[in-house]
Amino acid sequence: MTLHVDNARLLEELELFLVATPENRAHFDLQPFGLQPARDGIIDPLRREASSFLDLLSALDAATFGPEGMPMPRWVFYDAAELPGGIVGLGKRADALPRKVAEHLQIPTGYAGLVPLSMYVAIPTLTPGTWVGHNLCSLRDLSADDALRGIGRLTKAVALKVFNARRQIGVTQWNSRALRLHARMGPLRLLTAWTPAHTYPASLTYEVTVDDRALRHLAGEPGNALPSPPPERWVDGEDNGALEALQARIEAGEHLWVTGLPELLPAGRQRIPIARLPRP
Ligand SMILES: CC(C)(COP(=O)(O)OP(=O)(O)OC[C@H]1O[C@@H](n2cnc3c(N)ncnc32)[C@H](O)[C@@H]1OP(=O)(O)O)[C@@H](O)C(=O)NCCC(=O)NCCS
Repeated sequence: MTLHVDNARLLEELELFLVATPENRAHFDLQPFGLQPARDGIIDPLRREASSFLDLLSALDAATFGPEGMPMPRWVFYDAAELPGGIVGLGKRADALPRKVAEHLQIPTGYAGLVPLSMYVAIPTLTPGTWVGHNLCSLRDLSADDALRGIGRLTKAVALKVFNARRQIGVTQWNSRALRLHARMGPLRLLTAWTPAHTYPASLTYEVTVDDRALRHLAGEPGNALPSPPPERWVDGEDNGALEALQARIEAGEHLWVTGLPELLPAGRQRIPIARLPRP
């Protein structure tokens, strides 16, 4: 039951939080892999006292998605995440934070509570057990040492466990480093490879099966590696022509998958292994 992660400091030094309405919480696993939420880590967005923590989540989102050009307005957090789904993350007490992190999040003077360092936001779909991953971010890059290595992976794994997800749908950009993180859950079936409906058409939409083995591997637990089918080809994450060609194949009825982890190419590009596989 207990979770063992490759960077043990994450579980020793960080505390778990959850933002969700009482109605949604009744459907969640509030002790994911035996982890206990922080004493003040269950936040009800319907109450006024939630506002200082929600301010910090907005600051975390702005610090991570602002540079990507996709920060979330506060009403999107509320209408599209806190009411229909939930937010799960890891944080640390304000007085234990490195100064750089405190400045980045503009922690108000005198605030002594929990400060979020990562979050995963997800929304349930009409298919029971299927959740759309809406936002994942972490402040790992602000940490000078190894303290937060693996926080992004662990956050997503714990959150999907809290939500009791059995299948997850997500959207990410082909050249994003986050794709490596998502691909650790196992083969990703492509629902789109070129996505004009999104702000960034060079985005993929994937679905992935969620079970404890996949979540433990994602979290960084040794010994849970998942089988990786051989790729049929590698696609360059910035080759828009190749991505549109994949989309044409998907629309023609083929089942295409990201079969493993992306590999880095020069100049910050990456190539991604793709194969045609039967639908499970
Ligand atoms: C994407 C993001 C969540 C990753 O979080 P993180 O805390 O760095 O992730 P982890 O430490 O768990 O590392 C996950 C993987 O990314 C790799 N990684 C970490 N930093 C990296 C970097 N600078 N460049 C390339 N890969 C990197 C790690 O090596 C790890 O790979 P592994 O599974 O082989 O060990 C974080 O960078 C972020 O908040 N980015 C801005 C928002 C965003 O783009 N979110 C993704 C939306 S889909």
